[in-house]
Order: sequence, then C-alpha cells, then structure tokens
Amino acid sequence: QSFEYIKVSTPRTGVAMIELNRPKALNALFTPLIVELNKALESLDKDPSIGAMVLTGSEKAFAAGADIKEMAPKEFADAYGADFIENWSQLYNTIKKPIISAVNGHALGGGCELAMMCDILYCNAKANFGQPEIKLGVIPGAGGSQRLTRAIGKSRAMELILTGKNFSGQEAFDWGLAARVFETPEKCVEGALDTAETIAGYSKIAVKACKEVVNKSQDLGIREGVEFERRVFHGLFGSEDQKIGMKAFAEKQKAQWKHR
Ligand code: HXC
Repeated sequence: QSFEYIKVSTPRTGVAMIELNRPKALNALFTPLIVELNKALESLDKDPSIGAMVLTGSEKAFAAGADIKEMAPKEFADAYGADFIENWSQLYNTIKKPIISAVNGHALGGGCELAMMCDILYCNAKANFGQPEIKLGVIPGAGGSQRLTRAIGKSRAMELILTGKNFSGQEAFDWGLAARVFETPEKCVEGALDTAETIAGYSKIAVKACKEVVNKSQDLGIREGVEFERRVFHGLFGSEDQKIGMKAFAEKQKAQWKHR
C-alpha cells in the first residue's frame, strides 16, 4: 500500500511505525490523512506479523490540529450530516493491538486528541500540547474534553480548555498524561519502539486481552470492571499461550508463543 500523507515502516521485529507526513501543514489532520491512517491501522491490526504500533509525527509537529482550512467553511448540516470527526474514532473503537504515540513538537487540538486516543503516550519534554479550540470559537471535538479530564483531573483540564493555554511535554508527564518523557525527539521515538518491541514479544492474545480490560476500566464501575477482568482472565485458560507461558516458567525456558 502506498500513502501520500503517512509513512508506514517496520523498524523492529513485530513493530509497525506510522509517521504522519504532511510537513507543509505541520501534519494538520484533514480527511484524506485520517482515511489513510485508518486504512493503515486496519491492515496492521490484521497482520499476524505485527504485535504493536507506534504513531508519531515529525520533530516539529506530531500534529498541529484538525485542518482549520478544511473546517472553516463547514455548515452545521455538513458537520452533522456527515458526522464529521466520527471516523477519527476508528483508532480507538476498532483497533485491538496496542498503539503508542510518540509525541514531538506541536500536539494541538485534534493532534493532542489523536495522541490521547492511543494506548500509551510518550513525549519529548519540549513537546507542545494544547486544546486551543476556544480561540477558534469552538470546543474540542475528538474526545479532548473527556480524555484530558480523565487523565489530568477536572480543574486542570477545565483551565486548559477554557483558556486554550498550551502545556509542555514535561507537564504532560508530571500530570500523568504521558507515561514517559524524553530529552530529545529521537529518544522519544526510540523509547516508543523499545516498548512496542517488548509488547510485540508477548502472546498476542494476552496483549489484546490486557488492552481490552484496561480500556474497560474507563467505561465500567469498579465492581463490573473487576468482574469483566476475571471473565477475560478465565477465558485465557482456553488459549494455547497460557499453557505455553506457564510451562515455560516451570521449565525455566523462554516461551515460544503460538498466539492461539
Ligand atoms: C491548517 C495549519 C494548521 C491547522 C498549521 N497549519 N496548523 N493548517 N490547520 N491546524 C499550516 C499553516 O497555515 C501554515 O501553512 C503551515 O502549516 C505552517 O504553520 P505556521 O503557522 O507558519 O508555523 P509556526 O509559525 O511555526 O506556528 C506553528 C503553530 C501554528 C503554533 C502550531 O501553526 C498554529 O497555531 N496552528 C494552529 C493550531 C491550532 O489552533 N490547532 C487546533 C485546530 S482546531 P502556510 O500555507 O501558511 O504555510 C482542532 C479542532 C479539533 O484541532 C476538533 C475535532 C478534531
């Protein structure tokens, strides 16, 4: 598959990297780019040789937001009629394998939202996050008000969304939005690839189950969440990889996963 606005590579065993590649517009997210991103993710999700994905941009910009020039002329009927932005949710709603975002440079508006949709967020200390929609007369539209609030708390998220003030990668880490922070863009991408490689080395069925149960914690109360976790845990006793993993431990061997 060849793409115009993204680059897809496999820099490590079992790891796919998607780089947003619309440099002239600082990776502003317009429909053709999102369509390509969804196509790539869908095919990588089905690819048995891939265990985890890294999503990144350039050193200058992860993504400077939804494309303001594409949005500017839209009327309510266009937005509502075509359910504008709905196809952005495909990443979160349908992809079963873990995606790590490696954020360098600007991650503003829809860029920040795209980074937060990923399963793990890594960033460079100097990355520039923000939800500046208020300055454009609108509000976050791709989950920013929900995900940022869950990640860093209501008061802080409210302040950022109401003022449109940016925050740094270091702050994103200090506040718990980012799992790790790095000194340089290169280290950020390498760190994401390292983690993706570790994940890709485990049983795919167990990895998928981990992602599913952690994500459920965002939707369910503690009691139902723990019960859901236990059911999925029970289900894994029907997998070959559970037998392989536990037998390998007892025999002091490295597990050779069958992913079944
Ligand atoms: C369209 C954009 C863009 C965007 C940058 N560009 N961001 N085009 N949509 N979001 C374009 C510029 O128009 C310019 O094109 C080129 O990229 C380079 O940008 P500059 O502004 O010249 O670069 P710089 O001076 O370095 O400033 C970087 C910046 C600034 C601070 C990131 O570009 C900026 O403020 N961008 C907008 C950020 C923003 O408001 N994002 C939220 C969008 S709303 P030309 O052709 O002039 O060279 C949003 C809503 C989400 O995301 C809701 C649902 C998804």
